[in-house]
Amino acid sequence: MNIVVLGPGAVGSLWAYKLNLAGHNVSVYSSQNLPNLSLELDEQPALSFVNQSIELLTKADVLLVTVKAWQVEAAIEPLIKHIDERCIVVFMHNGMGAVDTVAPLLDRNPLVLATTTHGAYKPSREKVLHTGHGNTLLGGYNSKGSRCDFLAEVFNHALANCQWTENINLALWNKLAINCAINPLTAIEQCRNGDLAKEHYQEKLNQIIDEVCQVMRAEKVPITREQLEETVTQVIKATAENYSSMHQDVFYQRKTEIDFITGYLLVSAKRHNISAPTNQALYDNIKTIENSWTQS
Ligand code: PAF
Repeated sequence: MNIVVLGPGAVGSLWAYKLNLAGHNVSVYSSQNLPNLSLELDEQPALSFVNQSIELLTKADVLLVTVKAWQVEAAIEPLIKHIDERCIVVFMHNGMGAVDTVAPLLDRNPLVLATTTHGAYKPSREKVLHTGHGNTLLGGYNSKGSRCDFLAEVFNHALANCQWTENINLALWNKLAINCAINPLTAIEQCRNGDLAKEHYQEKLNQIIDEVCQVMRAEKVPITREQLEETVTQVIKATAENYSSMHQDVFYQRKTEIDFITGYLLVSAKRHNISAPTNQALYDNIKTIENSWTQS
C-alpha cells in the first residue's frame, strides 16, 4: 500500500519504519523542510523516507496521522486538497476530541481511529527506540471507516498486536482514563510512572479514578470502578520505568495534551453535571505550568 505518515515523532517513526519493513511504500510528512528523512529503529540499519511529497500524498491509500491531538487540525488542513477521497485517514494520538474538529473537512474519506500502548522514544532526529511492546486497536469513526477492518491485518503484519474493534469509543475512553490518572500527576511531580504505585499517591489516584468512572458511566461506557482501577494499576506497573508523554512535555517546556485528556473529561463532566474537583485541580496546575513558560 502507499502509506504516508503525517507527524513522524516517536510513535509515527516507529510505525513508518515497521510498515516499510512489511513491504509498503511509506513516505513521511514532517514539519522539517528536508527532501528525505533518515530513520534508525533500535539497532537496525537506517532507512530513508521521502518527506513532504505532495505527489505521494495524492497517491496515498492510507494517511496515518500521528501528530499530537492539539496539532491535528493545523497539520491536516493545508493538506486536505491533496488527499484523495478513497484514502483511509487513520488518527493515532493520546486524548479525545481532536478528530471531531477535522472530520467535517474530510467527510468523503473513510476515517479510522487508533489507540496504541506501544512505547516509543526518539532520542535524536534520526533514531527511534521501541521502548515497550504494546497493543494497537483500530476502529471506524464514520460509516466508510467502519468498513476498513482489513486494515487491522495490515497494521498487525507490520507491528503486532493490532486488532479491529467495533467499539473504538470504549478503547479510547479506557486510554483516556489511563492518561487522566498517569499523565498530569507524573508531569506535576516530575516522576516516573512507577512512582505512582507508592502509598503517598493512592488517595489522589483513587479520587481521579472515582471522577473518571462517574463520567464514563454517564457517557454510557460499560466499565466498573474495579476494572478501571485494575487497568490503571497494570499500566503503572507495566510502564514503571517510563516517563509519561506529559512528563516529557513539561520537562522540555512543550505544550501538553492536557486539553484533549483531562480537558476533554472535564467538558464531559460538566455536560453531565458531575463535579470533578481533583481532575479540575490537575488541569489548572498543568495550565499554570504552561503559562509560566510563555510569561518568562
Ligand atoms: O502518554 C503516555 O505516556 C502513555 O500513554 C502512557 C500509557 C501513560 C505510558 O506512559
